[in-house]
Amino acid sequence: PLVATGDIVGPAHAGRGCAPAFNVVQIEHVTAIIAAAEQRKRPVILQLSHNAVRYHGALEPIGSAMLAAARLAEVPVAVHLDHAESADLVRRAVDLGFSSVMFDASTLEYEANVAATAEVAKHCHEAGVWVEAELGEVGGKDGAHAPGARTDPQDAVRFVAGTGVDALAVAVGTSHAMLSRDAEVDLELVARLRAEVPVPLVLHGSSGVSDEGLREAVLAGVSKINIATQLNKTLTATVRAHLAERPELVDPRKYLGAGRTSVTEETARLLDVLDGR
Ligand code: G3H
Ligand code: ZN
Repeated sequence: PLVATGDIVGPAHAGRGCAPAFNVVQIEHVTAIIAAAEQRKRPVILQLSHNAVRYHGALEPIGSAMLAAARLAEVPVAVHLDHAESADLVRRAVDLGFSSVMFDASTLEYEANVAATAEVAKHCHEAGVWVEAELGEVGGKDGAHAPGARTDPQDAVRFVAGTGVDALAVAVGTSHAMLSRDAEVDLELVARLRAEVPVPLVLHGSSGVSDEGLREAVLAGVSKINIATQLNKTLTATVRAHLAERPELVDPRKYLGAGRTSVTEETARLLDVLDGR
């Protein structure tokens, strides 16, 4: 069934486990990720980024498909809007029935980010929608998650109090879209943030972190782990191999189906890793 994001992240945060969140580009991701969650009997968060909305040209077609698939799932599934850069897109997601949003005003100056995020959070909370946000001190989602960027714990506490958000994306050594899995998570900073910030911490750019690094990040106190690139690497490698091996293929189901199966396998493997296995 479709559930509230707080119903997945809340227990993970309280139990010092983590809520796994995987990004969707196309419907094959949706069915592949849900199949893995059903195999492992684990709740999962499906995420759609603002960039993926731009790719599809609108939120509603792919967003409605995600919501429909979540409602049919045998395990709890939340549907989340990721890195939304406009309050208008957030409103559309809330109207469509999304479980949660990440509002990313991190390119704005601190005070402007706080004001814009607080307003979005107020609207979302009136509709019962959970909100994640990010500090903007470094500027830009790539900048905030550049390997050298770090979230200051006192700034984080002030930002959460000033905005009323339900979760905070923190800069602790990861960066987006890494193809190698050798990012060093600043575990000491994660532990300090965990001790001082009252809401769940979210790790972005998690594809750049090794299996062991992900386990350590969860132990140190991260409560939601966002993974996008790792599944796309898997999907694309499988499709590429299939097309190379069988140049006569025309029906996309033949190669996308194989890609989808490989995404299910990798998602199930990552669910085990994030479960501490
Ligand atoms: O918001 C999505 C994540 O931060 C994904 O990052 O593509 O590096 O796994 P990634
Ligand atoms: Zn991200």
